[in-house]
Amino acid sequence: MLRVRVRLAGRIAAQYEIEIAGGALERLGSAARRALGAQTRRILLISNPRVFGLYGARAVESLRAAKFNVAHWLMGDGERFKTLRTVGRALQFSSEIGLERTDAVVALGGGVTGDTAGFVAATYLRGIAFLQVPTTLLAQVDASVGGKTGVNTEAGKNLVGAFHHPRLVLVDTETLRTLPSREMTAGWCECIKHGAVGNRKLFDDTRRFLERYESAKKNSPPYEERLSKLIAAHCRFKAGVVRGDERETVERKDHKSRRILNFGHTLAHALEAATNYRRFRHGEAVGYGMIAAGEISRRLGLLDAAELKELRETINLAGRLPSPANVDKDAVIDFLKADKKRVGGRLQWVLLERLGKARIIDGREVPKRTVRDGLRAALRHYSAA
Ligand SMILES: NC(=O)c1ccc[n+]([C@@H]2O[C@H](COP(=O)([O-])OP(=O)(O)OC[C@H]3O[C@@H](n4cnc5c(N)ncnc54)[C@H](O)[C@@H]3O)[C@@H](O)[C@H]2O)c1
Ligand SMILES: [Zn+2]
Repeated sequence: MLRVRVRLAGRIAAQYEIEIAGGALERLGSAARRALGAQTRRILLISNPRVFGLYGARAVESLRAAKFNVAHWLMGDGERFKTLRTVGRALQFSSEIGLERTDAVVALGGGVTGDTAGFVAATYLRGIAFLQVPTTLLAQVDASVGGKTGVNTEAGKNLVGAFHHPRLVLVDTETLRTLPSREMTAGWCECIKHGAVGNRKLFDDTRRFLERYESAKKNSPPYEERLSKLIAAHCRFKAGVVRGDERETVERKDHKSRRILNFGHTLAHALEAATNYRRFRHGEAVGYGMIAAGEISRRLGLLDAAELKELRETINLAGRLPSPANVDKDAVIDFLKADKKRVGGRLQWVLLERLGKARIIDGREVPKRTVRDGLRAALRHYSAA
């Protein structure tokens, strides 16, 4: 069992553990009991039909063995269910079953489930305890770490939410065995992002893992063990960034601010919106977004050509991204203007100085033409591949 401790600066008793191991789900009950203490009687498990069908019985059984009274509530599967409506229904259910202040919510699933269930836990009775059991690679290395919870609205993604840290994150790497390969690719893209913005060694380790990934026998013990270690390294990295800037301070523009985690995301969000969230998984769009941001970085004289090439190759290793043929580039540019991470009406670009070091650049310093060329170069590269 690997453990990553997440410490939060400036608050009392604000720390929790991420526990990572193949088969960890069987220990969910005992780990939850340790994290929650003896007073917690009930647990509301929130999941979706697909994930619950695969892992629900094991999770419930383990929780019951630790003397929790378990109820479950299933939300729809997919980003389009990450809404206030879903949250409203889950809150209603929580009231109906009489969930109390000392009780807890457990999220079992990917980032969609985690974000939604986290927001339910953050708002029910003004906040009750919350545990995460992420079952996608993306959720294990990214979404479950850092305390951001929330939902989408008509106006855009993640526009309503709260910071609410879990008491425990339990990562069972064996759950990835059933994850479709596109979802793995999406998760790997976020991993590449971590290395690219802040840790060259993590970038290299991720790349090396991806190189061996195809040839390694996927479910053999050494694979599982190396994967667990790599996931732990990514959690540690994200936890470190979050600790340094828990609430993503608006004024900060340094290379350690939480905002660096938005590398590739400005264009990714625009790409997702321009294709009605249908063509790309979020992480796949981040793959294109990182290449475009890399291209922009090079055009501004920040990133050198060899490192840009390395970034592209590593994203290639993550898996094949869906074709960007016929993506309306003008629509993508229009959506850029609506990006929520704008500060004072201006976009802030997260670019790269080198692999392992990000730089935040004010939108005024990036000519529109450069953005357009960078985007075109990113999309062209893959159309030709
Ligand atoms: N809170 C944060 O800091 C943060 C960070 C990054 C992303 N996010 C959010 O995370 C969401 C994306 O999460 P995601 O990529 O995990 O998507 P997801 O939750 O939609 O999961 C992807 C698909 O995989 C299925 N699935 C999950 N686990 C499975 C398993 N083990 N086996 C088989 N199928 C499985 C799900 O049912 C779903 O269909 C987005 O809404 C994004 O905004 C949040
Ligand atoms: Zn992301």
